[in-house]
Amino acid sequence: MPVNTLEELFEHELQDIYFAEHELLDVLEELAEQTEDEEIAQAFRDHREETEHHVERVEQVFDMIGEPPEEAECKGIEGLVEEHDQFMNRSPDQAIADVYNLTAAQKTEHYEIAAYGNLALLADRLGMDEAGDLLHENLEEEEDALDTLATLTEEHDYAQLMD
Ligand SMILES: [Fe+2]
Ligand SMILES: [Fe+2]
Repeated sequence: MPVNTLEELFEHELQDIYFAEHELLDVLEELAEQTEDEEIAQAFRDHREETEHHVERVEQVFDMIGEPPEEAECKGIEGLVEEHDQFMNRSPDQAIADVYNLTAAQKTEHYEIAAYGNLALLADRLGMDEAGDLLHENLEEEEDALDTLATLTEEHDYAQLMD
Protein backbone atom coordinates (compact mmCIF):
# COMPACT_ATOMS: atom_id res chain seq x y z
CA MET A 1 0.00 0.00 0.00
CA PRO A 2 1.51 3.38 -0.97
CA VAL A 3 2.30 5.81 1.82
CA ASN A 4 1.44 9.34 0.71
CA THR A 5 0.85 11.36 3.83
CA LEU A 6 2.64 12.24 7.05
CA GLU A 7 -0.27 10.64 8.91
CA GLU A 8 0.37 7.35 7.10
CA LEU A 9 4.10 7.62 7.76
CA PHE A 10 3.32 8.23 11.44
CA GLU A 11 1.06 5.16 11.56
CA HIS A 12 3.72 3.02 9.88
CA GLU A 13 6.39 4.11 12.34
CA LEU A 14 4.01 3.48 15.22
CA GLN A 15 3.41 -0.08 13.95
CA ASP A 16 7.15 -0.61 13.63
CA ILE A 17 7.88 0.41 17.23
CA TYR A 18 4.84 -1.54 18.44
CA PHE A 19 6.38 -4.69 16.94
CA ALA A 20 9.80 -3.77 18.34
CA GLU A 21 8.49 -3.21 21.88
CA HIS A 22 6.81 -6.63 21.93
CA GLU A 23 10.02 -8.23 20.73
CA LEU A 24 11.97 -6.38 23.43
CA LEU A 25 9.72 -7.69 26.19
CA ASP A 26 11.02 -11.18 25.33
CA VAL A 27 14.58 -9.98 24.73
CA LEU A 28 14.92 -8.19 28.07
CA GLU A 29 13.65 -11.24 29.94
CA GLU A 30 16.14 -13.40 28.09
CA LEU A 31 19.00 -10.96 28.74
CA ALA A 32 18.21 -10.94 32.47
CA GLU A 33 18.22 -14.75 32.55
CA GLN A 34 21.50 -14.94 30.64
CA THR A 35 23.32 -12.44 32.86
CA GLU A 36 25.07 -13.43 36.07
CA ASP A 37 25.97 -9.94 37.39
CA GLU A 38 22.97 -9.14 39.58
CA GLU A 39 23.12 -5.37 39.08
CA ILE A 40 23.11 -5.72 35.30
CA ALA A 41 20.37 -8.37 35.36
CA GLN A 42 18.26 -6.06 37.55
CA ALA A 43 18.70 -3.21 35.06
CA PHE A 44 17.29 -5.49 32.34
CA ARG A 45 14.36 -6.47 34.56
CA ASP A 46 13.64 -2.84 35.48
CA HIS A 47 13.62 -1.78 31.85
CA ARG A 48 11.39 -4.71 30.93
CA GLU A 49 8.84 -3.33 33.37
CA GLU A 50 9.10 0.09 31.74
CA THR A 51 8.72 -1.56 28.35
CA GLU A 52 5.27 -2.82 29.38
CA HIS A 53 4.30 0.83 29.86
CA HIS A 54 5.78 1.71 26.48
CA VAL A 55 3.47 -0.82 24.86
CA GLU A 56 0.48 0.66 26.71
CA ARG A 57 1.35 4.22 25.68
CA VAL A 58 1.76 3.18 22.04
CA GLU A 59 -1.67 1.52 22.24
CA GLN A 60 -3.09 4.78 23.61
CA VAL A 61 -1.61 6.62 20.62
CA PHE A 62 -3.20 4.10 18.22
CA ASP A 63 -6.48 4.84 19.98
CA MET A 64 -5.96 8.60 19.51
CA ILE A 65 -5.54 8.22 15.75
CA GLY A 66 -8.56 5.90 15.60
CA GLU A 67 -6.63 2.86 14.39
CA PRO A 68 -6.40 -0.62 15.91
CA PRO A 69 -2.93 -1.48 17.30
CA GLU A 70 -1.11 -3.41 14.61
CA GLU A 71 2.48 -4.56 14.26
CA ALA A 72 4.71 -4.01 11.22
CA GLU A 73 7.68 -6.37 11.20
CA CYS A 74 10.71 -4.45 12.45
CA LYS A 75 13.75 -5.89 10.68
CA GLY A 76 16.05 -3.55 12.60
CA ILE A 77 15.29 -5.06 15.99
CA GLU A 78 15.03 -8.57 14.53
CA GLY A 79 18.52 -8.11 13.11
CA LEU A 80 19.92 -7.03 16.47
CA VAL A 81 18.29 -10.02 18.16
CA GLU A 82 19.73 -12.37 15.54
CA GLU A 83 23.17 -10.85 15.96
CA HIS A 84 22.94 -11.34 19.73
CA ASP A 85 21.83 -14.97 19.34
CA GLN A 86 24.65 -15.70 16.93
CA PHE A 87 27.21 -14.39 19.40
CA MET A 88 25.69 -16.43 22.23
CA ASN A 89 25.98 -19.53 20.04
CA ARG A 90 29.74 -19.08 20.30
CA SER A 91 29.42 -20.02 23.99
CA PRO A 92 31.20 -16.99 25.50
CA ASP A 93 32.49 -17.15 29.08
CA GLN A 94 29.79 -15.97 31.48
CA ALA A 95 31.70 -12.81 32.44
CA ILE A 96 32.14 -11.93 28.76
CA ALA A 97 28.48 -12.65 28.05
CA ASP A 98 27.51 -10.17 30.79
CA VAL A 99 29.52 -7.39 29.13
CA TYR A 100 28.23 -8.36 25.68
CA ASN A 101 24.61 -8.25 26.88
CA LEU A 102 25.13 -4.68 28.05
CA THR A 103 26.35 -3.76 24.59
CA ALA A 104 23.50 -5.59 22.87
CA ALA A 105 20.90 -3.87 25.05
CA GLN A 106 22.41 -0.45 24.34
CA LYS A 107 22.10 -1.07 20.60
CA THR A 108 18.35 -1.67 20.97
CA GLU A 109 17.96 1.52 23.02
CA HIS A 110 19.59 3.55 20.26
CA TYR A 111 17.05 2.14 17.81
CA GLU A 112 14.15 3.01 20.09
CA ILE A 113 15.49 6.51 20.79
CA ALA A 114 15.65 7.22 17.04
CA ALA A 115 12.16 5.80 16.55
CA TYR A 116 10.50 7.69 19.41
CA GLY A 117 12.41 10.90 18.70
CA ASN A 118 11.02 10.98 15.18
CA LEU A 119 7.53 9.81 16.16
CA ALA A 120 7.35 12.54 18.81
CA LEU A 121 8.50 15.12 16.27
CA LEU A 122 5.89 13.99 13.72
CA ALA A 123 3.17 14.09 16.41
CA ASP A 124 4.18 17.65 17.27
CA ARG A 125 4.21 18.71 13.61
CA LEU A 126 0.81 17.13 13.06
CA GLY A 127 -0.60 18.99 16.05
CA MET A 128 -1.23 15.81 18.03
CA ASP A 129 -0.20 17.20 21.40
CA GLU A 130 -1.45 14.39 23.62
CA ALA A 131 0.12 11.72 21.44
CA GLY A 132 3.32 13.76 21.41
CA ASP A 133 3.38 13.84 25.20
CA LEU A 134 3.05 10.04 25.44
CA LEU A 135 5.77 9.51 22.84
CA HIS A 136 8.04 11.97 24.65
CA GLU A 137 7.51 9.99 27.87
CA ASN A 138 8.64 6.81 26.13
CA LEU A 139 11.57 8.67 24.58
CA GLU A 140 12.74 9.94 27.96
CA GLU A 141 12.55 6.50 29.54
CA GLU A 142 14.59 5.03 26.67
CA GLU A 143 17.19 7.78 27.10
CA ASP A 144 17.36 7.12 30.84
CA ALA A 145 17.66 3.37 30.20
CA LEU A 146 20.54 4.01 27.80
CA ASP A 147 22.25 6.20 30.42
CA THR A 148 21.87 3.48 33.06
CA LEU A 149 23.29 0.82 30.74
CA ALA A 150 26.16 3.08 29.66
CA THR A 151 27.03 3.83 33.29
CA LEU A 152 26.98 0.13 34.17
CA THR A 153 29.28 -0.50 31.21
CA GLU A 154 31.68 2.27 32.23
CA GLU A 155 31.79 1.23 35.86
CA HIS A 156 32.08 -2.48 35.19
CA ASP A 157 35.04 -4.27 36.78
CA TYR A 158 37.11 -5.17 33.73
CA ALA A 159 40.14 -6.12 35.82
CA GLN A 160 38.52 -9.48 36.59
CA LEU A 161 38.40 -10.16 32.81
CA MET A 162 42.09 -9.53 32.15
CA ASP A 163 44.94 -11.91 32.71
FE1 LIG B 1 10.74 0.77 24.85
FE1 LIG C 1 14.02 0.38 25.65
